[in-house]
Amino acid sequence: MKVIGVKDYVEMCQKAKEIVVSTVRSKQKVNLGLATGSTPMGLYKDMVEDFKNNGTSYHNVTTFNLDEYVGLDGGSKQSYRYYMNTYLFDYIDIPKEHIFIPNGKAKNLEEECKRFDELIQKSGNIDLQILGIGRNGHIGFNEPGSRFDSRTHVVKLSESTRQANSRYFPSIADVPTHAITMGIQTILESRKIILLASGDSKANVISRLLTEEPSSKLPASALKHHPDVLIIADEKALQYVASK
Ligand code: PGA
Repeated sequence: MKVIGVKDYVEMCQKAKEIVVSTVRSKQKVNLGLATGSTPMGLYKDMVEDFKNNGTSYHNVTTFNLDEYVGLDGGSKQSYRYYMNTYLFDYIDIPKEHIFIPNGKAKNLEEECKRFDELIQKSGNIDLQILGIGRNGHIGFNEPGSRFDSRTHVVKLSESTRQANSRYFPSIADVPTHAITMGIQTILESRKIILLASGDSKANVISRLLTEEPSSKLPASALKHHPDVLIIADEKALQYVASK
């Protein structure tokens, strides 16, 4: 894992945007893996701005999102499909049929997980995967205890994750209990991975990630098994890390 330390959230997003844009411009066809949450919002804003100002085209880009809540359809404001449309897809030229997000309303969730995972593989896997990190070390919704060889599956959300995400819902009771997530193995099959971390709330988990041996207690530590992971973290997220 390589770490790039940046000053703040703005710089973190700009750095990530530069890599995304150069990847999109470097190949005929690109598969991007995308994340939701508060961390990548600024990255998407910068990508939209770049699209407007520099015309970077997403016409030949296919996207796969990490996860979706079980029980929410794309019209629900808390769904990750709604989030992606609102922050990115509605403002760039990506064809709608190139956008893949697990369907949290699928009748057969197991089938949906299998379908989604196979789609990624059939498309030739992800070229560049964007990740955030949960305070408990989750990537996607792979909570502590998740197997490193997991593929896309249904997970029960931990109470700390439901608590952290309740800020987007009227009350904690409204936060879904389950989600579909790309598995850790599915994520590790991406060619390049960028993990973004900003702010005090990520300082502890980033310090753990950089010092602990890989273990399922810290799902993000699986990234140590991948040859091309870049962590872009700001000063606050790196505050407990000795050599920045
Ligand atoms: P956040 O979530 O970006 O809202 O902090 C990150 C995550 O839970 O993966």
